[in-house]
Formats: sequence, C-alpha cells, structure tokens
Amino acid sequence: MSDVRARPRAIGTPMDRVDGAQKVTGTATYAYEWPLDRPVYLHPLQSTIAAGRVTGVDTSAAEAEPGVLAVLTHLNAPSLTRPDDPELAVLQSDEVAWRGQFIGAVVAESLETARYAAGLVRFEYAQRPHDVALRSDRDDLYSPVHAAAFGQGGGELQDGSPADSVLGDADTAMALATVTLDATYSTPMYHNNPMEPHTAVVTWADGELTVRCSTQGVTWSRDLIAGVLGLEPRRVRVISPHVGGAFGSKVYPQSYAVLAAMAARTVKRPVKFTLTRQQMFALVGYRPASIQRIRLGADGKGRLTAIAHDVVEQTAKAKGYAEQVAVSTRVMYAAPHRRTTHRLAPLDVPVPTIMRAPGEAQGMFALESAVDEMALACGLDPVEFRIRNEPEVHPESGLPFSSRHLVDCLREGARRAGWERRDPTPRAPHDGRWLIGTGVAASTYPSPRFPGNTATIRMGPDGHCTVLIAAADMGTGTWTALTQIAADALGVPVERVELRIGDTALPPASVAGFSSGITSWGSSVSETAARLRALLESDFGGTVPPDGLEVTADMPGNPDAEHYAMHSFGAQFAEVRVDEDTGEIRVVRLLGMFDVGQVINPKTARSQLIGGMTQGISMALHEHSVLDQRFGHVVNQDFAQYHIAANADVHAIEAHWLDETDPHTNVMGSKGLGEVCIVGTAAAVANAVHHATGVRVRDLPITLDKLVA
Ligand code: MOS
Repeated sequence: MSDVRARPRAIGTPMDRVDGAQKVTGTATYAYEWPLDRPVYLHPLQSTIAAGRVTGVDTSAAEAEPGVLAVLTHLNAPSLTRPDDPELAVLQSDEVAWRGQFIGAVVAESLETARYAAGLVRFEYAQRPHDVALRSDRDDLYSPVHAAAFGQGGGELQDGSPADSVLGDADTAMALATVTLDATYSTPMYHNNPMEPHTAVVTWADGELTVRCSTQGVTWSRDLIAGVLGLEPRRVRVISPHVGGAFGSKVYPQSYAVLAAMAARTVKRPVKFTLTRQQMFALVGYRPASIQRIRLGADGKGRLTAIAHDVVEQTAKAKGYAEQVAVSTRVMYAAPHRRTTHRLAPLDVPVPTIMRAPGEAQGMFALESAVDEMALACGLDPVEFRIRNEPEVHPESGLPFSSRHLVDCLREGARRAGWERRDPTPRAPHDGRWLIGTGVAASTYPSPRFPGNTATIRMGPDGHCTVLIAAADMGTGTWTALTQIAADALGVPVERVELRIGDTALPPASVAGFSSGITSWGSSVSETAARLRALLESDFGGTVPPDGLEVTADMPGNPDAEHYAMHSFGAQFAEVRVDEDTGEIRVVRLLGMFDVGQVINPKTARSQLIGGMTQGISMALHEHSVLDQRFGHVVNQDFAQYHIAANADVHAIEAHWLDETDPHTNVMGSKGLGEVCIVGTAAAVANAVHHATGVRVRDLPITLDKLVA
C-alpha cells in the first residue's frame, strides 16, 4: 500500500456524485418504488375538529366496499407500547389534539379504492373549544426544560442548553446605555416541503418488520418504531438509501410509519403509504411561529453593553416541543450584561418539528435585524458595527472557539459584494421606479459530533474496500463525501471505495441532521480506516491476506467539545430592488461567505450552501403557513397557495468559503454547512429592504402590503 501523503487527496476535490448516474437514469430506489409482492395501499383518516373526542364511528359502508381489507380506528387498532407519546401513539385513544390528526386508516387492494372508501367513513365528535392564537401575553406560557427540547423519547437530540441565561444585569445596563433599541420581531409557521413526501412501505415476515421509508436516519427510525411497536430493535429493519429532501422533517415525525406497520400487521400483506402534500401540512411537523423581543444597549463608541432576547414560541398542547431561538444570541456578540429566555405557548395545533436550522433561523432573523437597526442608531456601518462587537471567546460560557472566522467572512464578503461603494442613506439609490438596497447579516450554527457511529471496513486482497455505515443521504451528497473521506483515510483512490449506507443491516449511525452528519460519520469512518491500516502494517507487513481484512470501530462524541465552542459562521450580503409603487421585492443578488472548515466536496458543498440561501430567500419573502383561527388548520396546504421560492424568485446567488481548517471538530477539519447557510439570509434581505425603502419590516414574511403605506 502506498502512503496517503503521496496521493492527491480526494477531500477538497469537486468529485461528481457517486449516485448521480443512478439519479438521472431513475434507477436510484426511493421508498415508494421498492418492488413488492401483492402490496396493498393505505389512505389515512384525519380529524375534522381541532380539539375534543371521537364519540361515534361508522365504518360499515367503507368495509362493504369491494377491495377494502380493513378499516382501522381507535376501536380496533392494535395496542402500542408507547401510549404516553400522543404523536406516536397512533389510534390509541378517542382524543383529538389537533385538526388533521390520524383517527383511522383504510387499507385496500388499490390506492383509489382506499381513498374512495375513506370518504365513506363517518365520525361523530364531542368538540371542545380550541385555541390556536399565538400571543406573548397568554397566561399559560411555560418554560421548556431546555432551550431545545425537540425530543420524543427513545433518546433526545438536543444540546442541553438551559431555557434561560443571565449574565450581569441587562436592565440596569440598558438604562445606562448611550444608545438603546427595544423592538419586537415575529416569524410565522413554516412547513417543510421536501419534493419526496413522507413514505413508509412496510412488510412483516416471521415476526420481523421491514420498513422502507424516507428517513434522515435509519438507526434512529428503527429504534423509534421498534419502541412504539414493542419490538426488539433487531427485529426491525429500516432501509433508506436515497431520500428526496427532508430539511428536518424526516427525523422525528414517524407516526405514518407506525400507522403503516399497524395496518400491515392487521391485513398480513405488505402496505404502501405515502402522504399527500396536503396531509403533510398536518402530520409531519413544521417550524413553529415565534414572537421575539430584543433589547440592545451600546456605549458612545458603538460597543454593546447589554443584550436581551426574550422568545415566545408556539408549541402543541399535545406535546411540548421547544427550539433554541435565542441560543445564537448567546454566541454572537460581546457584551457584559445579557439575558435570554424561552417560553412556550401551548396551542391546539400539530406537534412542530425541526426545520433547517431549527431555532437559529428565526432567532437570527430577529438578532441580525436588531443589530442592523442598532448600527444605524449608532451611526456606524453594519459591517463595522459587527466587527467592533466581535467576542474573543464564547460570550457566555467563556470557552474559546475551536475556530471562528466571522470577521474574515464579513471583510471578504464585503469586498466581493462591493460594499465600499454603498451609500448608507436609505432610499438613496434608484433605478427608475426601482429602489435599490443592500443589506448584510451574520450567520452561525453549531457544529456538533454525535456518538453512536460505528463503521466496518473490509479490504480485499485486490485493494477493493467496502465501507459500511448506516448513514443517510437526503440529497445533500453523503454518498460522495463519505467515499472521499474513506479513500483518503485508507490511502486508496476513490474508485476502490464502495460505500454502503441507509440500512439498519449496516453498523449504526446518527442522523443526517443538526449539520452533524459528515463530522459524525466521517470521524468513525476515518478512525476505522486508521485502525485497519495500523493492523495491516503491524500484523501483515502491509500485504492484505488472501481472505482480506475487516475492522469495525466506533467513535465517542468529541471530547474537545467540553473545551471549545464549535460553530460554523458566515456573512450574507443581499441586494434587493423594490418597486416604489407596488412594493414588489426582488432579491437580485445574494452572496454568502462562509467559515465551515475544510470543505470535503466543493461541488456538493456549494450546492448545499446555495440551497440553504434559497430557502432563506423563501423564508424572508414567500413562505407562510396561514393558520385558520376558526378551524385550527393551515389553509394554504398545497403548492398553489404555499409559495416556495421558484426560479423566477432566485437571481444571482454566490456561495464562497474561507480556506480554513478547524483543528478540533474532527480529523478532516470540517464543520457543518447544511444549516449555517439559511441562518442570516432573512435578516440580510430585511436589512436590504430597509436600505431600499426606509421601511423596517419586523414581521416575516416581507410581503408587499407591508411596504405600501
Ligand atoms: Mo436539520 S433541521 O437538523 O435536519
């Protein structure tokens, strides 16, 4: 075997996607496409009230329909072992906790029959008044245990940050400050809308369950599903080699897989179930709405003396869920006096879930808008204001950053964006009726490494290497990036690496979420490769034995995480044009400069960064789930009415990164990049809209009615 140093590294090269040919030829198998012997089809029944109980069920007409195999309701559904989780305990009681909740399912020989028969089932309800109004003055607000309490049993994925943080005395410092700001920002509900809907294709054989589903983590899904069904995890296999987008919504919500498994057990046939777009708006979570008050105080030189960020977020009455909305505020700027709080407003709504940068996306819209307002109030350029308030260490924990190059992102981004040519006066630049504005915002997102990752590597005598780990690829490029990491760690060309992911028959892995995937899986793959090479040298003198070699290893969480704060950073620069008469807004240019450590694959990384920035434009201007207060459901529950940024909304987008390596996150030196790219975009757009029009919109999305006085 040759030395890895003698070989050009795979890491850092723009390798084409190893799954690219499969995808463009339609041979990459997505969950719904698995060929099955005599499958049947499920159509769910959903509650038409937002709160109350089911008091009567009439399934007779549906059951009489030819081709119908079963109609499940809470009266006849199999018992589950986790009745304590109202989201996963499907059909376990007569309670209705939100409009659109599962209250039954029809299973039939064809999808059309299932859907038709579903319309024949009659429910009666005892309705109680529902309340879906988010207000910061509700008297039932409560504190979550942690700032981020995403979890639902079976292991919590959360960072453990406290709901509140206090340093010094922000109120007194604010009273003494030379310049102050006190402003309230709000963000609506947003729905995750991956192209591939949530899908479960379920087969039972000999008491063993196989679930082909669209998930961000097969190990996690298996443990969740097995726990709810009361099965040993080894009796459940989850397969998910390709995922058509997720953005967070394919981590926690798994109730559709549970429902499909119950149905398959009942009818003793394979069951196929994919949600419709409309069903997704009630059943697979969403980013909850927020109301955020920010107060800032600064001295005469534009240095922050006090920062306070108080958050009220929507949650479900059925089950608490919290996002770390103000946690970025603990990370971003130096100030001796500071306070952050999180409070939850329990409503009769579906359970929220994580959506690209859950918490940070909405929190940094508020903070980075407020910082723009404060810079103006201090008479300082917003880039300069941020640089002036850059902390030396984590402002609250006091830990050093493993790497933090935010100032370089601001400077280099400003240079590329042509920021020095900017006239800071709002409403100054014009092009006919178009008002032109530019805005900047900073970004950050944690870069965690999760434990629970095991990799197995087999090396054959011909040098062919098979790398096995139950990682996930939701379209972001895992197949390719992990192949590159394995090749370098093994010291072989990428052509000799065959990767297998997305199957619980492989060694366990953590989820593709929280911008942790490549760090977590890549660390275990690298460690396993290093051990294999050491074994090859020590026991075999560098020659692979005729039977080949196999090594399995795992990696714990990152011990350096106790000593360093680990975050990705970025700076986003937006240029907008606003029609002076109609308020029409166009983001004509968006430039992101990121600090994400070593980039594994520039091609897939750029794609992911641009995707996040696009989703940020969408968050700023277009997306908005409209909750009907009278009925308690989202009314714009399809692509005709829930507008997501399309090609016509997206003009020039550039994503760049610094040539940096992080010495502590992992052996590759990479940091997470899937989420830092959405953070800050909405504020950059809002700040540019203010520069163009002089109107400060503090309530997302920024629609033209908010600009036309
Ligand atoms: Mo992301 S919201 O952690 O999948």
